[in-house]
This record gives sequence, C-alpha cells and structure tokens, in this order.
Amino acid sequence: MSEHQPTPAGGFSRRSVLGYGAALVGGAGLGAVGQAARTGGGAVADGSTPGTGASSGPAGTAASAVFDRLEPFEGDHQHGVASAPQAHATVIALDLLPGAGKEDLRRLLTVWTDDIRRLTQGRPTLSDPQPELATPAAGLTITVGVGPRAVALTGRPAPAWLRPLPAFAVDKLTPAYSDGDILAQVCGDDPTVVAHAVRALLIDLPGLATLRWMQRGFRRPAGSASTMRNLMGQVDGTINPDPASPDFADLVWVGSEGPDWLVGGTGMVVRRIAMNLDVWDQLSRTDKEQVIGRTLADGTPLSGGKPTDKVDLKAVDASGLTKIPMFAHTRHAAAQGARDRFLRRPYSYDEPVGPHGSVAAAPAPATSVAGTTSNAGLLFITFQRDVDEQFVPVQKRLEKPDLLNKWTTPIGSAVFAILPGCRAGEILGQALLA
Ligand code: HEM
Repeated sequence: MSEHQPTPAGGFSRRSVLGYGAALVGGAGLGAVGQAARTGGGAVADGSTPGTGASSGPAGTAASAVFDRLEPFEGDHQHGVASAPQAHATVIALDLLPGAGKEDLRRLLTVWTDDIRRLTQGRPTLSDPQPELATPAAGLTITVGVGPRAVALTGRPAPAWLRPLPAFAVDKLTPAYSDGDILAQVCGDDPTVVAHAVRALLIDLPGLATLRWMQRGFRRPAGSASTMRNLMGQVDGTINPDPASPDFADLVWVGSEGPDWLVGGTGMVVRRIAMNLDVWDQLSRTDKEQVIGRTLADGTPLSGGKPTDKVDLKAVDASGLTKIPMFAHTRHAAAQGARDRFLRRPYSYDEPVGPHGSVAAAPAPATSVAGTTSNAGLLFITFQRDVDEQFVPVQKRLEKPDLLNKWTTPIGSAVFAILPGCRAGEILGQALLA
C-alpha cells in the first residue's frame, strides 16, 4: 500500500489523516514532534517485507525463538491481555486536546491501527524513522483503550464502571500517574523493540493529543522456569485466571451486557503501587511470609500443600491459631464468590534515585512513600469484564485489614475500556465510531 492509497479502513489516506491533525492544533504538543519526525525520517515507504523473523542471534536458538515470536493482531479480542506476559512493558496515556471531536478520534485510531498492524508483525510504520528496529517483533503486543472522555466524544454509552475508581483510604494518588483519555499498553520481550514501538506511536499522533503519563515495567517473562517474583521477593501471580480455563472469557471479556461497541473488549485497571523496600527489608523472613500467607522460597501457602495451591483460610495449627494470619494479604484478596476475580498482569518498576539516595531528586515524580535507596514498586495491571463488580470489592476488602498496606502505597490509578479486537479491513474502535 502506498502512502497515497486509502487505508484498509477506507476513507483516509495516510497523508490526509496526519495532515489534518497537524492543522487542527497547529502542530502543538506531540503533534509537533510527529511533524518533524515525518519530514525528517518519513521517507520510509511500505516497501518493507513483513516480519520474517530475521534476528541477529543464531537461527534456531531459544533466543531467536523468543525474538522471532509474532503475536497475531486480528481477532475477536486485542492481544496483550490473554497473551503470555512478555518481559517488558511501557504503558502510555494520552490527553485529547481541547476541541478534539469524534472525527479526530477516528483519525488517531486509524493511524494507530495501521501502525500496530505493522509493528506487531515485525514491519516498520509508514513514517518510521528507525525501520530496522521493527524486526524481529519479539512478541510485541500493543493494546489500546479509551477513557470516559474519549467515549463521550462519540456520543455512545459508556459502561458504568468507566470512571476513576472510588477513593480508597490507602491512596496517595498523583495526577502524574492517573487517568487519561487514550491508553496504549506496549509489551514485548526486547526493550529496544518496545521503545521503538512507543516512539512510533507517539510521533504518529495526528496532533490531537498530548502525553499524560508513561510508565515502564519489567518482569520474568512467561515460559521461564517459574511464576514471576515482584521486588519484595514474593512469588506473584500464582492464583490468577488461566486464559486456557473455561471461565476466563466470562471473567475478562465484555459480553452481551455491552455496551455493544465494547463486546469482546475488557476493563483495565492500572495502579502504580510504590513499595517501601527500605522498611520492608527490616522484617524477618517469617514476618514477610506472614504478611502474604505464603513462603518466600517458592510461594507455598502457609496452610500447606504445593506452591500452586490456593491458601486454605480455615486451616489452624495445633494451638487452634489460623495458619493464614488475619492480617495476611491473601486472606482478604482471595475470592469470596464467583465474581470477585480478575486477571492480574503486573510489571515491576524500579526508577532511578537521586545522587544521595534521595527519591525527590529522581526524574520520576517524587513520592514520599518510597524509601531512600529505591523508587520501586508494582505496575499493578488487571483486566476484568466489570471493574465495579470484580475489582472494587477486592480493593475495598484490602483497604484496612491487609497488613501489606504498611509497605505499599497506590500512587497512580486509571481505568480504561480496552477496545475489542478488529478484523482485516477494520480499525480499532470500529464499532465505537460507527
Ligand atoms: C504492591 C502491591 C501488591 C503486592 C506486592 C502483592 C503481592 C501478592 C502476592 C505475593 C500474592 C500471592 C501469590 C499469588 O497468588 O499471586 C498475591 C495474591 C493476590 N493479590 Fe496481591 N499484591 C499487591 C496488591 C494487590 C492489589 C491492590 C490487589 C487487588 C485490588 C491484589 C489482589 C490479589 C489477588 C486477587 C491475589 C490472589 C489471592 C488468592 O486467591 O489467594 N493484590 N498478591
């Protein structure tokens, strides 16, 4: 497809889509960055071959298998939710500029759909300044969501849960990590590929949005020896709906309850939770295990059994004391019914601290809750069909009795509606914009 042909979604050429956006706001904000990049590096045409999996490593090695992996883009659902978690993630949220309307949102999603179709299949975008970085795709997924304001622009009904979470006593939220109109979660097994994809998306904003926040995370990728550990040292993610299980779809994907434009999509919660590792590290190993209700060695429940077993909240020791303490995180996080469950897909973060261990001097927004030798925590990402029904009751239960709150503090919070997947010839948000 040349730059002058209609996009598969029809209606807009690449140039007219981008040109309009720049005119709208006079190249303000990220639109200006995009304009410069397009004139400087925009000579890259779509002459690239689809991701062939060419990698710099020896063919046939485990490493090349990881880096050559392509995650399908088209389908009923977007990738990046049920996909096995990759090692690196960057999540970005945008603010739509004042005056943006439904057609501007369509332009943005038209351009991004084309970008994502290419990037996730190992091909550069049309205006890619560094096309070599697009291959191999390293399992790249780019998952797009919308916030309440973006939905309002379309005049379509929003699900009741698409709004900021209720305020919780444990929260110390900063706008620098909260809310937003449009979201992209970019995940991959190569941080260079992830960085390139994020930049490709940002320079292609047709001048109607600015970057509100960007958060980066890392984790042990799925397929490695065991469940990931967070920076407190705990095995994290043991009890989690399995995408292969029969109830996964029911828990995660929006169904006939709609709204109709969201069927096949999901609700996403992104919470940035700071860990005070300096104080946490002063606890004994036994105390740390009691706080969660599982061992540090391999995550075995303190009530006994195998590491993958659920905690037994009724188990008591010889003295009649509960084996899972009343203050343990898992005692209050564990599902109490059929509906208060969701998919956790978290990433750790670890930001630079200042020269003398002062977090305030670090480039990331300062948090008085982080320690002095680290600015670390969890990018707590969850997916559920109904945030109010599934996520909120659990967070409410954790508010007071969960002792983990002593060392963890939510400092950012956002809720998005992740759009359904799209098929050949469609754009993300096709039904929303219909
Ligand atoms: C930095 C903050 C947090 C840390 C370090 C943390 C850590 C853990 C650990 C180590 C486990 C046990 C292993 C597992 O089943 O995955 C666990 C379980 C769980 N956590 Fe958290 N968690 C945090 C925040 C939260 C929050 C905010 C929620 C919900 C709003 C939550 C919900 C859950 C659930 C549902 C489970 C599974 C419980 C079960 O069924 O046994 N966690 N968490």
